Amino acid sequence: MYDETVELAKRRGFFWPSFSIYGGFAGLYDYGPLGVLLKDNIIRTWKESYLCDDAIFLDTPNVTPEPVFKASGHIARFSDIAAECEKCKTKSKLESVLSFNHISDIPVNLEDAKRIVSENKLKCPVCGNIINNVYDFNLMFKVSGDYYLRPETAQGIFVNFKLLNNYNRGKFPMIVAQQGKGFRNEISPRQSLIRLREFNQCEVEAFFDPENLKFKELYEYKKIKIKPNTGGEFYITVKEAFEKGLISSQAFAYFVLKTQIILENMGIKNELLRFRQHDPDERAHYAADSWDAEALIDDEWFEIVGIANRTDFDLKNHQASSGEPMKVKAEDHEFIPYVIEPSYGIDRIILSLLAQSMEKRDNKNVLKIPYKIAPYHFAVFPLMKKENLKEKAEYIYNELKKLDKYIIYDDAGTIGKRYARHDEIGTPFCITIDYQTLEDDTVTLRSRDTTEQERIGINKILEQPFIDSHIYKN
Ligand code: GAP
Repeated sequence: MYDETVELAKRRGFFWPSFSIYGGFAGLYDYGPLGVLLKDNIIRTWKESYLCDDAIFLDTPNVTPEPVFKASGHIARFSDIAAECEKCKTKSKLESVLSFNHISDIPVNLEDAKRIVSENKLKCPVCGNIINNVYDFNLMFKVSGDYYLRPETAQGIFVNFKLLNNYNRGKFPMIVAQQGKGFRNEISPRQSLIRLREFNQCEVEAFFDPENLKFKELYEYKKIKIKPNTGGEFYITVKEAFEKGLISSQAFAYFVLKTQIILENMGIKNELLRFRQHDPDERAHYAADSWDAEALIDDEWFEIVGIANRTDFDLKNHQASSGEPMKVKAEDHEFIPYVIEPSYGIDRIILSLLAQSMEKRDNKNVLKIPYKIAPYHFAVFPLMKKENLKEKAEYIYNELKKLDKYIIYDDAGTIGKRYARHDEIGTPFCITIDYQTLEDDTVTLRSRDTTEQERIGINKILEQPFIDSHIYKN
């Protein structure tokens, strides 16, 4: 479904490569008219879900001064190993050169990478020349002077910890969320929205007293596939996984469960989702434990959300570098808070949900995304472009728009073509105004998912309960 999704996304206006009139540039994508609406709905789903946990929100700059990333370890350690061909000058991630050469060794550091390269005579995937040049490549974009584009939104939250703690009147746990752009100078951007140079993150930093890594009650929910680093891959509820000691703390388990539910509400299928724990040598430099939510597209798993236990790593380092004390007082002890971080990659979520939601009906695409997140909830059609039908259709369109903004008017092509178009972009309902409408004030309401049509009075449609029961309670 990956190729079809990317083709549909471009043709219908969800997303496409940026700057294409100049040939396109790897790792940069635009959201088109439908994509912008879908992205907003995805972000709103995330935001409303965390508002339910009394999260507070923040918005900090993309451009960040060097001392922040010196302290956070990103300047020294936020890098990938690059492999460069001296003949054709192609630069690739060593990982992909290893897989092209069918080598399964994973280097633990640069020295190890050099050993693997010299022992295996790796061929360049582009020209076949033997590769000798491997080096650490920092993934941050440096802008002018001593400034960088942030590779994660998280640091903006950590550096504001004291102000946020004051705002929150010292209450713990404190859940802080930020939505914004992240930038990474990826060595080999690939697969449209999967590996971008500029991407959208929704990050949550949940601050805890390290002696009390507990949050709201866990509850039984649907079983989910998990892959712990101790081995095996099986279905289990998150609550059970915590009770069996597979997930290290109650607070961590809470955010795994919450992520399962948020992703489901966004349209990621439970049966095409798994939580995979990182091996110790795979974790980011700041993490003591990490689980990725991964979505299946075709037969490949992609990380869409990273959940990490960042401990007091970031606050401690910012305290040491800036001199700002990060310790807080509880009744009988002092502590630097521990952080659990669920970090949602919005672009990968969008790609996964489009690919997972696409179904074929009579050889045509139907995008079965949840009604609430669809770019448009209703499409209003006059049967033909005749004046009297048009007038009535415009009246219904304008009145309906007063109740729900996500309505589109469409009078291009046959009714069959219009149904197909709206099935393909995921519009849950089409409303057709025909000659009978002029006689009895009823319209045809047609469902995307069942193709069933029912006759319904205009007075019924133009009421809030109709919108609520069709879109929001679904
Ligand atoms: N603050 C933690 C952090 O940034 P991460 O696992 O590196 O963790 C979180 O990133 C999420 O951001 C990933 O799960 C992924 O969905 C998304 N992401 C990261 N790099 C990306 C890239 N180059 N292109 C698109 N999405 C990316």
